[in-house]
This record gives sequence, structure tokens and C-alpha cells, in this order.
Amino acid sequence: MLAVYADRFSADDPLSALQVGERPDPEVPDGWTTVTVKAASLNHHDLFSLRGVGLREEALPMILGCDAAGHDEDGNEVVVHAVISDPSWTGDETLDPRRSLLSERYQGTFAERVAVPRRNVVPKPASLSFEEAACLPTAWLTAYRMLFTRGGLHAGETVLVQGAGGGVATAAIVLGRAAGLRVLVTSRDEAKRARALELGAHEAFESGARLPVKVDAVIETVGRATWSHSIRSLRPGGRIITSGTTSGPKLDDAELTRIFFLQLSVIGSTMGTRDELAGLVAMLDATGVRPLIDRTLPMTDARAGFAAMLEGEQFGKIVFTR
Ligand SMILES: NC(=O)c1ccc[n+]([C@@H]2O[C@H](COP(=O)([O-])OP(=O)(O)OC[C@H]3O[C@@H](n4cnc5c(N)ncnc54)[C@H](OP(=O)(O)O)[C@@H]3O)[C@@H](O)[C@H]2O)c1
Repeated sequence: MLAVYADRFSADDPLSALQVGERPDPEVPDGWTTVTVKAASLNHHDLFSLRGVGLREEALPMILGCDAAGHDEDGNEVVVHAVISDPSWTGDETLDPRRSLLSERYQGTFAERVAVPRRNVVPKPASLSFEEAACLPTAWLTAYRMLFTRGGLHAGETVLVQGAGGGVATAAIVLGRAAGLRVLVTSRDEAKRARALELGAHEAFESGARLPVKVDAVIETVGRATWSHSIRSLRPGGRIITSGTTSGPKLDDAELTRIFFLQLSVIGSTMGTRDELAGLVAMLDATGVRPLIDRTLPMTDARAGFAAMLEGEQFGKIVFTR
């Protein structure tokens, strides 16, 4: 079958490790099912894989891709949940120490077919296109869990989203607005601030700018470059929910004094559960809000999508179709 895969790693030139070609059909263990992929979306995770981050050499060649939507074996329209937990694990699968993401241990979604545990397929409502549904399992699910599960945010609260152009950040803006939050955003880039306002943010500020109000919570994926500003933007008792460190994980100042004196909460968050993915799908169905798609390309042109992400050209998700 046609697949987009890594057959080696290159830390400096990740596109040189990218292959588009034929791969055998995935193995289907007991209790697993095959999804015929209609659309799949690109994440930074896929670029990290080409660089050799989070993927073992013994696992190569590895089909890339965490996110997909397609048809299950009975022809139902489904979304694929990307977190694969151990069969013996019960409860929140993001807490399973042996969990992996599709394309880390098991072959990924950038292919004609992908094998997943049966419980990892979630029904896709007809109101969502395959392209839209394929955007949800990683960046959008991460934002959903950060806002509503780990962050516990509810209508009427104020949230700051750092780094307006990122995949998780744009999802947090749209979902936060749809859930009745007041959404403030920062970006270094004027054009991205304007796009964030179009997406539904109430106000947009330059990165590091003093905000007119203190916020209840911060959605933090930027890391080092914005951490101090995030902590300083919180009201007493506020919370910072962190799921990424795009600008680096090492902090110049962790702001510990503010954290204890203002009784702030620092909350880690990673991906989401199958039930949260079902909740996210239902929220989109009910509210009519949709993922922002930067561009859609045939899977055979995947290289152009990877190149755009490498250059940071996109605003929203890059989707591959078949
Ligand atoms: N834990 C999880 O489950 C999970 C899931 C998905 C993603 N992630 C992680 O979350 C992070 C965000 O990923 P993403 O794909 O959403 O976004 P991204 O494209 O990596 O970038 C996020 C934003 O970071 C901002 N940024 C980057 N460098 C900066 C700097 N030096 N100063 C200020 N802002 C800077 C940029 O905002 P502006 O240009 O607008 O300023 C950019 O739009 C990544 O580290 C990713 O690995 C984690």
C-alpha cells in the first residue's frame, strides 16, 4: 500500500529521511481492527520522528502520522484515537506508563490503511468532513483536555493562550470561545494576532505585553520564552496548564516565589483519552465550530506539507487526503 514513512533519521535535514512509497499492510493483532484512511493530518510529532526524537532505530521503517479519519471494517465513518495503551491497562490511558502514540511503536496513519485497537475508533458524525475529523486526535484533543479536564475551565472565566499560531493554541482559541470563555492571546507576529481575532479571540497582545486583567488560567505550549509572562498574568489562585515547550524546556526563572505566594497551580497535560476525543467530536457537532485547515494535499504530495511545517509557514492544520 502507499505510505509516507521514515527509513532513517536526520536531526539536521529531516526531509531527507522522508519516503513516499510502498509498504506492506499493517499487522492486525487480536482485538485490533483496520481503518481505511480517507484523511490524515500532520503534527510536529512527525517532524520529530524524522529527526529521531521519540522513535527507536529498531522500529524503522516506520509509517508516520498520529491522526486519521476513515472507514472501519464495516464501512462506518470513524476518527482514530492515537494513544495506544497496554491491553491490560484500565482507566485514563494517558496515565499508562507503557502507552505510545501511533507511529512510535505501531505503524502510523499516513497510509492507505492503519491498524488500531478496536476501542481506538470513535464514530465520526456526518456533520464533520473526513478532513476536519482528521485534525482532532492530537492537537485538538490536547487543547480540549488542557482547557476542560486538566484546567477545569468553565463559561465566564478568562484564559490566556500563548503563541497564537500553534496547532494546540489555535484549537484552544476556538474551543475556549465556543465554551463561553473570555480568550486573550499573545503572538510575536502581527498577522497571527489578526488571524487569532478572526478565529474568535477577544483580544490579542504582543508576546510579553502587560495584560489589562489578570487571567484565571493560561494555556502554555511555548515554554521558556513565555513562562514568566504566563505566571505573571495569573490572578491569585490561578492555574497554568502546560503541554509543550516549543521554545525550550529550561527556564531562566521558574517564578517559584509567585507560585507559592499567589497559590498558583502548575498543571501538566498530555494528549487525551478516547472518551475525551468522543467529547471533542460531540462538541464540534453541537457547536458547529470546526478545525482551521491551512491546506489540504494528496498524500502523494506529503513532502510539500512537511516542508511547509519545517518552515513554520502554516496557520492551522496541514491535511493529507487519499
Ligand atoms: N503534550 C502533548 O500531548 C502535546 C500535544 C501536541 C503538541 N505538544 C507540544 O506543544 C508544543 C506546541 O506545538 P504546536 O504544534 O501546537 O505549535 P508550534 O507550531 O510548535 O508553535 C507554538 C507557538 O509557539 C510560539 N513560539 C515559538 N517560539 C517562540 C519564541 N521563541 N517566543 C515566543 N513564542 C514562540 C509561536 O507563536 P507566535 O509565533 O504566535 O509567537 C508558535 O505559534 C510543541 O512543543 C509540541 O511538541 C504536546
